[in-house]
Amino acid sequence: MTDKKLSGEVYYPSDEIVKNANVKNWDEVNNYALENYEGFWEDRANELSWFKKWDKVLDDSKKPFYKWFVGAKTNIAYNCLDAHVKTFRRNKLALIWEGEDGTKSNMSYYALHRETCRFANILKSLGVGKGDRVTIYMGRIPEIVTAMLACARIGAIHSVVYGGFSVEALHERLEDSQSKVLIVADGAYQRGKIVRLKDIADEALRRAATVEHVLVVKRTGHEINMESGRDMWYHELMNLPIADHGCAIEEMDAEDPLFMLYTSGTTGKPKAILHTHGGYMVGTYATLKYVFDIKEEDRYWCAADPGWITGHSYIVYGPLLNGTTSFIYEGAPNFPYPNRWWQMIERYGINLFYTAPTAIRGLMRWGNAWVNRHNLSSLRLLGSVGEPINPEAWKWYYEVVGNSKCPIMDTWWQTETGMFMITPMPCVPLKPGSGTRPFPGIEMDVVNEEGESVKPNEEGFLIIKTPWPAMVRTIYNDDDRYVDQYWGKFEGVYLTGDSAKKDEDGYFWVIGRVDDVIKVSGYRLGTAEIESALVSHDAVAEAAAIGMPHDVKGNVIYTYVILRSGIAPSDKLREELKKHVGHEVGPIAKPERIEFVDSLPKTRSGKIMRRVLKAKALGVDPGNISTLEE
Ligand code: WTA
Repeated sequence: MTDKKLSGEVYYPSDEIVKNANVKNWDEVNNYALENYEGFWEDRANELSWFKKWDKVLDDSKKPFYKWFVGAKTNIAYNCLDAHVKTFRRNKLALIWEGEDGTKSNMSYYALHRETCRFANILKSLGVGKGDRVTIYMGRIPEIVTAMLACARIGAIHSVVYGGFSVEALHERLEDSQSKVLIVADGAYQRGKIVRLKDIADEALRRAATVEHVLVVKRTGHEINMESGRDMWYHELMNLPIADHGCAIEEMDAEDPLFMLYTSGTTGKPKAILHTHGGYMVGTYATLKYVFDIKEEDRYWCAADPGWITGHSYIVYGPLLNGTTSFIYEGAPNFPYPNRWWQMIERYGINLFYTAPTAIRGLMRWGNAWVNRHNLSSLRLLGSVGEPINPEAWKWYYEVVGNSKCPIMDTWWQTETGMFMITPMPCVPLKPGSGTRPFPGIEMDVVNEEGESVKPNEEGFLIIKTPWPAMVRTIYNDDDRYVDQYWGKFEGVYLTGDSAKKDEDGYFWVIGRVDDVIKVSGYRLGTAEIESALVSHDAVAEAAAIGMPHDVKGNVIYTYVILRSGIAPSDKLREELKKHVGHEVGPIAKPERIEFVDSLPKTRSGKIMRRVLKAKALGVDPGNISTLEE
């Protein structure tokens, strides 16, 4: 721990926390990693199993197409399962699961390995092999984990689509990934209701052509359509001899793709971020171990959804690589009552708890009594991710949930980074609202338009200067867009798309997105997706979407719509358009407000100036509008 007195409001870790932490002296680790960056990551990689070790840790000869652990052979699924099954962890719980309806199930590492192998054999029998894309569309049930690991095991590339997305979002992702197989659940429980996932998938499949087989996992058991020759029940196939326990693991090159995950960026369709078996494995393993201070006896709960990067890295891969016991809960935090989460933390004795500011603010609104009814003394560490956490929510989380004894790991990272990038560790002094400093060895900065470092506490573009093992390798099928979007603005550095400040202690304060991405309740959406959903409605000629600040959700979506000539604006149409966006993209993308307008502010080249719309909605000065059309 640093002896220097830090500025502002600082929460110093107790001696007890420092004494028991995996990393006791952050500066020492950081200094080592700065001096010996490749060696630092090589040490982490050496803690995992490889079929063949690397010839080179980092190859930067084709920047920005960096390669990590060049020449090595591994499989992330081996390190998640096979490696543990050979040790005492064979009988340790890998997953504890609770359904929203109260259904419970557990799986040991042995069982998870077995179920994954059986699932992998089913996929193989459907002709899925190395490099094939498989789309997964389910709620938070154990099968989403086995499906992902089964793909990894046989070298197939999984593309998980969040269960809260809807028809067009799923269609677009199926089409772009050219998936052969879709794994879907019949439905998902959410706030006491059934989300009819298979119906949504049927509609998406009518728009997409490449899917040959649909594997259907039974969760809700309601009546669904099963198309003969295309759709098969997972549980029926699991009863056949093909679903055998034995399944050879594919030896993957460290740089072979593990998964693609669609995310929103600047303009246009969502893009598929590609991650690999080797670097991603080392990155997620090491960051979770250091930051969440994983202990053998811990029970860890990341309350995100496996359909987003947080779930990929820190529900599925990171925890399993560390041999941790993870808890997964299917449903809503306030169902049937606002104490559901706290009840489960108490029941399962959760030690490490990781969620998003929006959830914290939502639960905070229900009042302390719901939390105080439960004994949460098992908690040792808390985490936050997805958007900036306001100091008020931070303090509530710290004092009421953590009983003023659990450090909060405010982790800044992205789908593209794959792993935590700006993050404290338990031994690091905290400032509410700051993720503190970059992970050891990683150099980041805040710069101005010219790419020069700004002064302390001045706002600028957040950039990353060092390559890191879990970094995005490319955008699937679009190398040019990868180079353009992330490496195009400043020579040789990665552009995050966020604005931030760095204070006099070197602590980073992330402010938010400066591109066309809107974070709604921590979910990442693009203005383009919402706009194209609106325009796909017969009544709409043009549309613009912006993010507006909101107390609980962080941001909500405001839209401006020009109707086709002859169509009259009405409240009924407004409701219909909201529903339409929900049906096409998903309920999370529903605009909070739709305003009918006659024109939109545009540049002379025809680009919508969302900045001007936002300024108007906020009632502030729009700044420089010299490029405005008229
Ligand atoms: C935002 C989520 C402030 C940020 C893991 C980033 C955060 C975007 C934080 C990536 C945090 C994530 N503090 N902002 N701790 N964590 N963000 O790809 O704007 O869904 O660029 O990955 O979330 O969102 P994504």
